[in-house]
Amino acid sequence: MLKIVVCVSGGGTNLQAILDGIDTGRVTNTEVLAVVSNNAGARALQRAKEHGIPGICISPKDYESRDAFNQGFTDELCRLAPDLVVLAGFLVKIPDQAVAAFSNRIVNIHPSLIPSFCGVGYYGLKVHEKVLERGVKVTGATVHFVNEGMDEGPIIAQKAVMVEDEDTPEILQKRVMEQAEWILLPKAIDDIANGRISMVDDKVRRKAGTE
Ligand code: GRF
Repeated sequence: MLKIVVCVSGGGTNLQAILDGIDTGRVTNTEVLAVVSNNAGARALQRAKEHGIPGICISPKDYESRDAFNQGFTDELCRLAPDLVVLAGFLVKIPDQAVAAFSNRIVNIHPSLIPSFCGVGYYGLKVHEKVLERGVKVTGATVHFVNEGMDEGPIIAQKAVMVEDEDTPEILQKRVMEQAEWILLPKAIDDIANGRISMVDDKVRRKAGTE
């Protein structure tokens, strides 16, 4: 059984997709140990509670320095001891010591086709604003392992989504969630839980015959 901790900052629709995936059997061999948020008011914490999953708030605001938060956050993850940490709309940069402690065991969902529209400053609605500003016709979402960089770790899965002429950032965000994020992230967790992917030379490889 793959034990996961899901880190969230806001609405938690990606968290919901994971919980629904487990409930309906699309995600197997997986148990959510806890949901961690930097935001006590996150709807995602409410979703965890409704599911009987412990919700934990760890905010940089509650620590006297960023270093202290980084250590506190890492200590909490180590205490929970998950097999996998899932960043599902978590707007806090993961401390290097947490990346080291959970090497290739932290995954993130990003709402664009990395390496486009990612890195510092590209989060939430801003990603979709930039996509529309640039006028690209195809965007999408990416699930990747987390390393010390920003949106730079090995890519696990990507899914393309068409951009339409009349899109607003909000409309595009919704389409990317519905057509890509809510499918990709639960599937990546299921693939990891069932040993269908592995790392070869710093790249993610899918076991033959497991598409
Ligand atoms: C998602 O678009 C995710 O990719 C991005 O932030 C959003 C979070 O949405 N990083 P939600 O909290 O899962 O509803």
